[in-house]
Amino acid sequence: MKNRYVVVLAAGQGTRMKSKLFKVMHPVMGRPMVGHVVNAALEADASEVITITGHGAETIQEYLGEKSKFVYQEEQLGTAHAVMQAKDLLEGKEGTTLVLSGDTPLLRAETLQQLMAFHENEEAKATILTALADDPFGYGRVIRAEDGSVSKVVEEKDASEDERLVQEINTGTYCFDNQALFNALERVNNDNAQGEYYLPDVLEILKSDAEKVGAFRLENMEEALGVNNRVALAEATAIMRKRINDMHMTNGVTLIDPSSTYIDVDAEIASDTVIEPNSYIKGQTKIGEGVLIGLGSVIVDSQLADGVEIKQSVIEESIVGRNTDVGPHSHLRKGSVLGEGVHIGNYVEVKNSTIGDLTRAGHHTYIGDAEVGKDVNIGCGVVFANYNGMTKNKTVVGDHSFVGSNSNLVAPVVLGKKSFVAAGSTITEEVEDGALGIARARQENKEGFHDRFFENN
Ligand code: UD1
Ligand code: MG
Repeated sequence: MKNRYVVVLAAGQGTRMKSKLFKVMHPVMGRPMVGHVVNAALEADASEVITITGHGAETIQEYLGEKSKFVYQEEQLGTAHAVMQAKDLLEGKEGTTLVLSGDTPLLRAETLQQLMAFHENEEAKATILTALADDPFGYGRVIRAEDGSVSKVVEEKDASEDERLVQEINTGTYCFDNQALFNALERVNNDNAQGEYYLPDVLEILKSDAEKVGAFRLENMEEALGVNNRVALAEATAIMRKRINDMHMTNGVTLIDPSSTYIDVDAEIASDTVIEPNSYIKGQTKIGEGVLIGLGSVIVDSQLADGVEIKQSVIEESIVGRNTDVGPHSHLRKGSVLGEGVHIGNYVEVKNSTIGDLTRAGHHTYIGDAEVGKDVNIGCGVVFANYNGMTKNKTVVGDHSFVGSNSNLVAPVVLGKKSFVAAGSTITEEVEDGALGIARARQENKEGFHDRFFENN
């Protein structure tokens, strides 16, 4: 195998997206487009990835980090000009250079591998990845000579009426002999409708040097989708979503209705988990075996252990232990860590709190900034009053305690082990181990009240 280099073009603003976010940073199922492209390149055994940045350079650089080297393209004068920026890093090196666009997120590593192998076997100086499009509008058209070989690519804006009828399009992906590439790039001009230096012009230049220019046609146009606007972004998202869903189903996950199930690309899900309709699994989420994600749940950047059941609830940046159940209609916010066999019922909100094994909070409760032990019963309507208007304060509840319904625990406060809080209490001071805290007015009954009340009125 030859040395393999990759140049990823990602400097454009993406005017057609009409967005403050730089085009290649728009996510497709939870990963920026440029991330999909660079990952595919790395999976396809690229030894060195160079990303050309311009608009949003810092954001892209920070996002890709160690995965790539970066070259800054100060002015975006076209795709050939963009590749030219890598000259100092690549010129003179022997090997194959794969050029990819940061806006084609659906290309698979296997396809790139096949393209490079084909290019190297053919001993071509350039090989273009093409596809047949039902609607080729907006893409560069691949114009073939009578013998079937590629003679050039014409952009939509430069194409004649006849050329526009051609359905074979340039996917924006190419392999080059590295030295031939930089040699030809010197000769690209910007004499065209957009006044830009077009990378595909390199093909025509090499051809006129009597060098071998090949084409590798994709069977599936889907993979070639170039995202220039939000309509294409939605199309890419739909295709990627189906790919991800199919992969999970193949791995033994049941999706009751894949058409209404959304799973981000980085989520991991073990077998025998069931996901009900209208659920969204986002970000870096890890779900264990035999988990139920019930109807209409949203799980973001969280870890759910085996046997967890989530019903119509939202879980964000939280960890949920084995066989714990949450919902319906509950919300675990950032930093919630639930042990095993915990029961969080309806209308419960938990934030930045740890909850020990077998603890139960069945109804209408807020638990914030707390350390709740094991086997604790938290009654209906308990509020952990964690905020005094300036600072957030902590509540500690010891193992095997019982907090009666409709109590307020005003933090900072400690309830000892095996302690009790009487229903309706507002607890502001420590309750020692094994003690009962009552903090409410005593009940007083007025005998004969009814009759007195109505006689006097
Ligand atoms: C390009 C191709 C077209 C192909 C299509 C496939 C050219 C001239 N046209 O058109 O033949 O069918 O892709 O999707 O190459 N970029 C830079 N610097 C620049 C200009 C562009 O880095 O100076 C980057 C963009 O950020 C983008 C990529 O290159 O990631 C492609 O540019 P874009 O403007 O999207 O080209 P298309 O019009 O899609
Ligand atoms: Mg494009």
